[in-house]
Amino acid sequence: MAALILFGGGGDLAMRMLLPSLYFLDHDGLLPDGLKIIGAARSSETAEEYIAKVHEAVKARAEADGGWDEASWARMKSRLDYLAVDATDPESLKPLKAKCGDGEVTSFLAVSPSLYGRIVTAMKAAGLAEKNCRIVLEKPVGRDLESFLEIDDAVGHAFDERQVFRIDHYLGKETVQNLIALRFGNTIFEPLWNNLTVDHVQITIGETVGVGDRWPYYDEYGALRDMLQNHMLQLLCLVAMEPPSDLDPDSVRNEKVKVLRSLRPITLEEAERVTVRGQYVAGTSEGKPAKSYHEERGQPSDTETFVAIRADIDNWRWAGVPFFMRTGKRLPEKRTEIVIQFKPVPHSIFGHGERGEINANRLVIELQPEEDISLSVMNKKPGLDQRMQLQPIQMSLSWGVPGGVNGKDAAPPRRRIAYERLLLDAMAGDSTLFVRRDEAEQAWKWVDEVSDAWSGANFKPLDYVAGTWGPEAADLLLSRTGRRWNTRD
Ligand code: BG6
Repeated sequence: MAALILFGGGGDLAMRMLLPSLYFLDHDGLLPDGLKIIGAARSSETAEEYIAKVHEAVKARAEADGGWDEASWARMKSRLDYLAVDATDPESLKPLKAKCGDGEVTSFLAVSPSLYGRIVTAMKAAGLAEKNCRIVLEKPVGRDLESFLEIDDAVGHAFDERQVFRIDHYLGKETVQNLIALRFGNTIFEPLWNNLTVDHVQITIGETVGVGDRWPYYDEYGALRDMLQNHMLQLLCLVAMEPPSDLDPDSVRNEKVKVLRSLRPITLEEAERVTVRGQYVAGTSEGKPAKSYHEERGQPSDTETFVAIRADIDNWRWAGVPFFMRTGKRLPEKRTEIVIQFKPVPHSIFGHGERGEINANRLVIELQPEEDISLSVMNKKPGLDQRMQLQPIQMSLSWGVPGGVNGKDAAPPRRRIAYERLLLDAMAGDSTLFVRRDEAEQAWKWVDEVSDAWSGANFKPLDYVAGTWGPEAADLLLSRTGRRWNTRD
């Protein structure tokens, strides 16, 4: 019998993401037989009270996704248990260990990272770090390289690296994995995937939400540490890495680390040219008035809620190809996409605009709000016009889009919560989609250089109005080089 312990089992992440994910997995018959799910937190509630809370949270989510049924809930309910613990105290953890039995134990730390070090030490003393145990760490692990290493050393004293699963939930997203299939399951893209053909790459993670009540956490991290250090750099790695020899966890992660090592450091002199920090001021978001970050926070702060960066990868494949990344809160759209912008044709046989503009090809990998991969190509406008006219068309390479699969409309499978895949993989011991220590270390190293440059240059965030795409400087970052951010129009 296996057990999954959710430390912080009553918290936001557990209730919004982890427990609904487990419900859906159970619903689809994907959880190991006999798996026990044990919530563990400080609150002194009973198992019945905890299960009632889980029921409410899971039902709301499953109903919204059209996947609620009582039989699945009854099955999940029979797995659930709860124990009030002080996770930093080995004595308090012993009854938890006893509840787990002798099977494999996976512990998910959905608590403040400042507690990770003390919790893993207590887990070791309580017998929860034995050979049959695994630990899953939610991001952010640390707030800079030094604090990451400190926490990770404590983890390393309790667990072997093969037992440690550092989560970046972006890696559990279907389209992110599809990017691997697209690049390495086809021959047609890889020969073009380099500086001979690609002009530049854009990665955008736009969110319409503000920071709101999360400011006590957010104010310490900001967009650079909350999003860029992890989600954005992971996406960059998957776009830029060399083909791994197989899908073995270490083969893939070895290639990602090489990309991170090749990122050109951002120096103090360069910070102003290649980075933009922003913070939202009052405006309108999704048709409603939105407060400034300053108002939400209750006092002025120098934390950025928007960051845009030009990254350069110093290797043969990518020399001269800028990777532009931007992310922020209170932007006009919830949109996550990777854009591979190819170079224009070397010479136009169609003249210069009189037959329609010739747009350079563009591959857009959209993760949110839709999951879609599309390639824009130039096409002849149908008809007998003697001056042949051109037009761009979008070819969809995805499920769920008319003509998307084998020319037929294909119903997309239910969009899974990213954690579903990652929870299953962690329980099965497959770390391919998790972040290895050296990856996180390299990512922190690069991000620390950026934040050092910002403090060295006393580089304060620029204002942007809530509901816009960040400070004007973010547009200038591209327009200075004759490029512009992808738009939907
Ligand atoms: C989290 C960040 O890791 O990712 C949040 O801490 C952010 O600030 C969230 O809102 C975005 O995730 P997603 O899957 O909604 O794009």
